[in-house]
Amino acid sequence: MSVILAVLSTKGGVGKTTTTANLGGLLADAGFRVLLVDLDSQPSLSSYYSLAREAPGGVYELMALSETRLDRIVSTTTIDGLDLIVSNDYQGQLPQLLLNAPDGRFRLSHLLSTGSLADYDVILLDTQGARSITLEAAVLASDQALSPITPDVLSAREFVRGTLGMFDELERLTAYTSLSVPPLSLLLNRLDETRNSQQVAQSLRSMLSNDIRVTVLNNAFRMLSAFKLAGAAGEPIHRYEPVKPYRRVTPAGADLIKAVACELHSDWADAIKEMPSQHGGASDVRH
Ligand SMILES: Nc1ncnc2c1ncn2[C@@H]1O[C@H](COP(=O)(O)OP(=O)(O)OP(=O)(O)O)[C@@H](O)[C@H]1O
Ligand SMILES: [Mg+2]
Repeated sequence: MSVILAVLSTKGGVGKTTTTANLGGLLADAGFRVLLVDLDSQPSLSSYYSLAREAPGGVYELMALSETRLDRIVSTTTIDGLDLIVSNDYQGQLPQLLLNAPDGRFRLSHLLSTGSLADYDVILLDTQGARSITLEAAVLASDQALSPITPDVLSAREFVRGTLGMFDELERLTAYTSLSVPPLSLLLNRLDETRNSQQVAQSLRSMLSNDIRVTVLNNAFRMLSAFKLAGAAGEPIHRYEPVKPYRRVTPAGADLIKAVACELHSDWADAIKEMPSQHGGASDVRH
C-alpha cells in the first residue's frame, strides 16, 4: 500500500509542481520507490526531470482506459527510484470523459490501489491550479493533501473560498461512500524577510488554528532562487543546494525540503535522517 499525497491548490502558480518534484526527488534519494503523477493538463512536472525510459502512454491511458500496466504508462526518470506518469491529455478530453462516467470522481482512487501501482511506497499527485473534476478525483484518491500557499492576502482568501470550499463539498459527496476527504496541510511558500509576508503567515496561522480541516505546517519554504535554478537544471533542490552558501542567512534548499518532508510523515523523517552526506547530511535536518 502506497502513501498517496496530493499537492493542490485552486490557485495557480503557488508552487505545487516545485513542491511535488522536489519531494519526489528527495524521497527517492532517501530510498523510497516513488511515483509522480502529473494530473495538470499543462505538463510542467512531466518535463521537470530527464527521462531514462519513456512509456508509450501516460495519465490519459490511466484515467480514460483504466490502464495500470507499468510498462504501458510509467516512464522512468534518470533518478533511481523515481518514476513518472506523464500528462498526455493533449486534446483536453479527460474532464468531459470523467464528468460523463458514473465513477468519474472515484476512479483514480481505485486505479492507484490496483496491480503494480500499489507497490510504490509513495505516490505524489501534482494537480492543476483551478477547480476541476480531475482535481476532485486527486483529492479523493489521496491519504493526505498538501496545499502550498504564498503569504499574501489574496492567496489566503482564495484558499478559504476555493480549496476549503471544495473540501466541504467533497465531504458531503463522500458521506455515502467508503472514501473520505484527506487531512489537509498548508505549506507557506516563498516567505521572505519583509514584514508583510511574516504578518500574513502569522495571521494565516491564527485564522486557521481552530479549523479542524487544516494544519499549517511549522516548516515553510523561503523565497530562494535555487528553487528556480534547480528546476532549470532538472535537479531536485537537495542535490542542487545541499549546503547553505557562505554568508547567506536563509537555510540551504536541502534543509527546507527535508524539514517539510520530515514534518509530513514520520517514516520519511527516519529515512531522511539516514541519507548519505552528499545530499546535505543528516545533521542538517531540523524538526
Ligand atoms: N520558494 C520559492 N522560491 C523561489 N521561486 C519559487 C519558489 N517556489 C516556486 N518558485 C517558482 O515559482 C514558479 C511557479 O511555481 P510552480 O510551477 O511550482 O507553481 P504551480 O503551483 O505548480 O503553478 P501552476 O498552477 O501553473 O501549475 C516557478 O518558476 C518556480 O520555480
Ligand atoms: Mg504546476
